[in-house]
Amino acid sequence: METKSVDDYKLILREFARDPFSVATVCPSSPFLARHLADSLALAEARVVVELGPGTGALTEAVLPRLRPGVRLLAVERNPALCAAWRKRYPQCDVVEGNVADLAAICRSQGIDGVDCVVSGLPWPSFNAELQEAGVSGVHEVLRPGGQMALFGYHIGLLMPGSQRFYRLLDRRFSRVERLRWEWRNLPPAFVTRCTK
Ligand SMILES: C[S@@+](CC[C@H](N)C(=O)[O-])C[C@H]1O[C@@H](n2cnc3c(N)ncnc32)[C@H](O)[C@@H]1O
Repeated sequence: METKSVDDYKLILREFARDPFSVATVCPSSPFLARHLADSLALAEARVVVELGPGTGALTEAVLPRLRPGVRLLAVERNPALCAAWRKRYPQCDVVEGNVADLAAICRSQGIDGVDCVVSGLPWPSFNAELQEAGVSGVHEVLRPGGQMALFGYHIGLLMPGSQRFYRLLDRRFSRVERLRWEWRNLPPAFVTRCTK
């Protein structure tokens, strides 16, 4: 399925204009970045996968073909319009309109007691300290031991004070945090980080 239709660009742009700090991008991630992120996780062995901030599904498109049949993919998306669009596009998956801060409660309400992989499309550096703390704690709580989260950051985001605070928080919480290579074929260029519980 081709994700990045003109409609996706329009939708992201419109929602960015409404809520720039939360959407934090004017276009969906590139297929190169999505592939890089998906390849950094052991998705082929996963039983339960959570995607945070799926937006129009740019990362989902790389995640789904790597999953075995019957694997549970749960998405958590705060933006109502993006959530509705994702639900329509991927009716075979579950999406909850909610906040990453409530991830542990959302997983419990969905009958999920352990997550193998978390794919994050969230703009973590633009979150305040409280939301970063609650979101990272939630991810850490739901991951099984050895479970991993992959996330991306924009090069321009590194200048934000929230960025340094966020990466320090990851270093404190996870047993291993690896900065993987840059993906220049994305607007803006981005790098991938993988965290292991
Ligand atoms: C940078 S966009 C990424 C969209 C898509 N994953 C991609 O890579 O093209 C960030 C997404 O995270 C969602 N988001 C932002 N804050 C959130 C939160 N606290 N909880 C859940 N989703 C959130 C936004 O609505 C948006 O869909």
